[in-house]
Amino acid sequence: MRILILHGPNLNLLGTRETDIYGRKTLDEINEDLKERAKEMGVDIEEILQTNSESALVERIQAARDRIDGIVINPAAYTHTSVALRDALLATDIPFVEVHLSNVHSREPFRRHSYLSDIAVGIVAGFGPESYHLALKGLVQRLRQAGTV
Ligand code: DQA
Repeated sequence: MRILILHGPNLNLLGTRETDIYGRKTLDEINEDLKERAKEMGVDIEEILQTNSESALVERIQAARDRIDGIVINPAAYTHTSVALRDALLATDIPFVEVHLSNVHSREPFRRHSYLSDIAVGIVAGFGPESYHLALKGLVQRLRQAGTV
């Protein structure tokens, strides 16, 4: 089972960025934890990519077609703005889970809308770095249940 992890804009600043909301763990620390958890679950993380660029995210999703079984994605601010990300995920038809560190529903109203939630396998938000682990666990379970991998 090959899993792709995608982190959107500004997540490279985790650890120092709005720590009251996002906590003090860095993205590197989150990624290391995720790799550990994946190993425990017996799945391969094919790649972990953080980019601030919407087009780079679209291109990575397109390239994942027929190669990746599932995606865990924190689209960050593009969650609330990007039809292009939605279309890329629809076009490749790869099951994905949408992740947020913060509870986007308890923040500014504009964060309540997501261009991705209705096409995601599931959404995890509000558990800090643990959101990623829960997302990975849920995605792997869903893929195994579906028996496609
Ligand atoms: C975020 C929530 C988004 O609204 C925000 O733009 C982010 C991070 C989260 O992980 O809580 O950059 O996706």
